[in-house]
Amino acid sequence: MKIRTAILPAAGWGTRFLPATKAVPKELLPIVDRPAIQYAVEEAVASGIERVILVTNEHKRAIEDHFDIATDLEHALEARGDIEHLRAIRAVADLVQLVTVRQKEQLGLGHAVLMAREAVGHEPFAVILPDDFIVGPRPALAELMEAHEPAYAGVIAIEEVAPSETGRYGIVMPDETLPTLDGGRTVPLRGMVEKPNPADAPSSLAIIGRYIFSPKIFEVLERTAGGKNGEIQLTDAIAKLALDQAVIGRRFSGKRYDVGSPIGWLEANIDMALAHPLYGSVIRARMKATRDE
Ligand code: UTP
Repeated sequence: MKIRTAILPAAGWGTRFLPATKAVPKELLPIVDRPAIQYAVEEAVASGIERVILVTNEHKRAIEDHFDIATDLEHALEARGDIEHLRAIRAVADLVQLVTVRQKEQLGLGHAVLMAREAVGHEPFAVILPDDFIVGPRPALAELMEAHEPAYAGVIAIEEVAPSETGRYGIVMPDETLPTLDGGRTVPLRGMVEKPNPADAPSSLAIIGRYIFSPKIFEVLERTAGGKNGEIQLTDAIAKLALDQAVIGRRFSGKRYDVGSPIGWLEANIDMALAHPLYGSVIRARMKATRDE
């Protein structure tokens, strides 16, 4: 069955990026010339998604506005003859059909996904975490879709991380009784744990913010009590799902940046600026000048 819908949870506090995120949602911090969340929506569309369900909170109205028509601004740009910017802002509004649901209390990522249950309906769907910005030859979500089979309850993006860093991620437990597929890129999973200490980690394969689920995950989420930090953890629900249904890990080919943290965001901006057709040479010259100073 084609995956038509993607949930984009964007209702978290963004505490790692304070004070920048005191009044501005972290999803709207720019990576070079557009907000981080726009890349997530573009990845969804490039992967064949037709409908995006944005999970937000009362302080994040500006995210919806970013994907809406800005009538006054369009008129102003038209009057100035600034067709380039007019096209750019109109293209954002035309990107995709967007539905917004609210998460009234920040009870965790699992809870945010559960808020989209009615909007999703009874079909498999994707989840994209805008904090995980992935740049590569192919949209990361499309790579998960390739590995997806109707019988799977879940496909999860995975990536090798340094063993010392397991405490920052959900870590998967590969099922070694089953063969890997696609030259090792598709890995059957037995379970997963949220943010384990390196000594307790079942592997060094971390869960990254791209997922495909069958609607079964909603039933499990509803029964999942608060885990680490009292939040309803998506990882705990997937671990329960994996007890009796097929859940698969999928490696992706792009480079990932955690743009929900200042350092990951800076790295993404530097790399994207260097790769930019207009700004790349300017940044390179600036870096060279800094080295020579
Ligand atoms: P994070 O824990 O990385 O995001 O959640 P956060 O809570 O916004 O950030 P920090 O840790 O305070 O800096 C991962 C994803 O889940 C969403 C976030 O918006 C992010 O996309 N989320 C998290 C929600 O939508 N609701 C929540 O209650 C928690």
